[in-house]
Amino acid sequence: MVSLSIALTKGRLEQQTTAMLAKAGYGVEKLQNKGRALVFPDTRKDIRYFLVKANDCITYVEHGVADIGIVGKDTLMEGGSDYYEMLDLGIGRCRFICASLPDHNPLTKSGHIKIGSKYPEVTRQYFLNKGKDVEIIKIDGSVELAPILGLCDGIVDIMETGTTLRENGLVVYDTVCPISARAIVNKAAFKLKRPEVMAFLKDLETVKEAENVK
Ligand code: PRP
Repeated sequence: MVSLSIALTKGRLEQQTTAMLAKAGYGVEKLQNKGRALVFPDTRKDIRYFLVKANDCITYVEHGVADIGIVGKDTLMEGGSDYYEMLDLGIGRCRFICASLPDHNPLTKSGHIKIGSKYPEVTRQYFLNKGKDVEIIKIDGSVELAPILGLCDGIVDIMETGTTLRENGLVVYDTVCPISARAIVNKAAFKLKRPEVMAFLKDLETVKEAENVK
């Protein structure tokens, strides 16, 4: 049996995560030339990686199939809590924002407010903290369309470069919070495989610190 199973989030975070692992001395060549494969043995260490969607990364860690998961804070904020969040990797940096059309600030609107988001829990908590009762409309993608077509008064979504908002004529009214990738650890693995888990996290932390110094 391999000493560690690690779930990586595919898509946006994938390249930065793989680059970080390579800098930390892990054998991730198979991840970097992956084709359609989903499971990848490390070529240097006794580790296997697998690529999954962000929500599934939490599920695999919670069920102990993965000892460690690398996943965005956005996904962690939206659901799941049966794991240890151990390390901010400092990659995949972006932020949650509240945005809408120009002159349509949903934060100053009176009366009934409708907010569209892929992240209903984050949205609920954000407006709760502001003492505002809003109707949340769950949207699965291309959230920027919703205020343009009149489905809602504003959105809570991820902004990385700001290009999507800009190209669709939307403006940011507030930053909800910053986001970055985190390493999460299965609770049993943290006890039973502590040396392996801690060594892996330490290697990533060393790369993160070296990057911060640059
Ligand atoms: C995310 C997010 C924005 C976009 C922001 O969507 O929901 O639409 O990225 O990135 P930017 O600030 O760099 O333009 P994603 O690409 O994950 O696709 P989706 O809308 O289909 O979920």
